[in-house]
Amino acid sequence: MEVRVNGVTVELEKGESLLQAAERAGFKVPTLCHHPAVPAQGSCRVCMVEEEGSGRLLTACDTPAREGMSILLDTERVLEARRYALRLIFSGHPVHCEVCEAANDCRLRELAAEMGLSGRELPLSQDFRPVMDANPFYHRDLSKCISCGLCVRACQEIQGVGNYEMLGRGPHARPGTVLDTHLEASVCEFCGLCASLCPVGALFQRPYLHRGAEERRVTTICPYCGVGCSLVLKVRGNRIVGVEAGVEGSVNGWSLCVKGRYGLDFVDHPDRLRKPLLRKDGELVEAEWEEALGYVASRLAEIRERHGPDSIAFLASAKATNEENYLLQKFARAVVGTNNVDHCARL
Ligand code: FES
Repeated sequence: MEVRVNGVTVELEKGESLLQAAERAGFKVPTLCHHPAVPAQGSCRVCMVEEEGSGRLLTACDTPAREGMSILLDTERVLEARRYALRLIFSGHPVHCEVCEAANDCRLRELAAEMGLSGRELPLSQDFRPVMDANPFYHRDLSKCISCGLCVRACQEIQGVGNYEMLGRGPHARPGTVLDTHLEASVCEFCGLCASLCPVGALFQRPYLHRGAEERRVTTICPYCGVGCSLVLKVRGNRIVGVEAGVEGSVNGWSLCVKGRYGLDFVDHPDRLRKPLLRKDGELVEAEWEEALGYVASRLAEIRERHGPDSIAFLASAKATNEENYLLQKFARAVVGTNNVDHCARL
């Protein structure tokens, strides 16, 4: 079907939205409660567009395009409707950006800057809630929640856990768990997906608190299990300051488990072994790789000679690549002469 956006004609499939039409035509429409990974909900009203002819204001993210429709993206009515929607959201959101961990990464603040709003146009009317931070992974500060519902949809639609639902009505609606228990008493898996999609500071990932803004991104593979999830590391200097799922062409899409998202602190932990250790006179001392490998080779040969090849066993690791694991079993069978090979994934 054909749809016109600001006078540009684009081709759309049935069921595609006005937001997709605008993007295909090369225009940007501001969004807040929308995320490509979850079904649109149309709750924030920031993505308003105007239908030419009828003059109707429509939310672009959840309105399906119709054949022959023509929409305008930046009429004065549209801009004012978006500004008004944002003012209303700010009226329930404390503007304490100086002390908000998400200040540099807040979609609401970014939109306010784009639209020339301070966020204090309407008086603040909200119920303050205590910060919930009993777990080490993220804190919930529902005073900052803008009820966009992204965390609810992410938990239900992507993670498939369904730990959250919206509780309360109108300005008091907030995401909560069944019976509104703390996360620690719920079925939460602490995968961090909800916190990674939160557009403000209501759900904040604690392991990456006070680490500064990212300087570059590195795409890599998770070092834990054999699924091979794709990770995007946010890096500042040589330090990881955040982790996101690597979505493009990955097996994991938007998902990560708690280890992949929050378990990478070992990378620069001071206790991490950086050199092999050899026990000498009862003490573990640092050695060069050549010396350590030479020692292992001579001991393996000695044990094999004295007790036979089946006195030696090899345990492969899920943290190694398939190729490395293949080489290990080849070494065990062809060089040492034993079939005593196992893998930690079977334990
Ligand atoms: Fe469309 Fe929120 S982004 S209504």
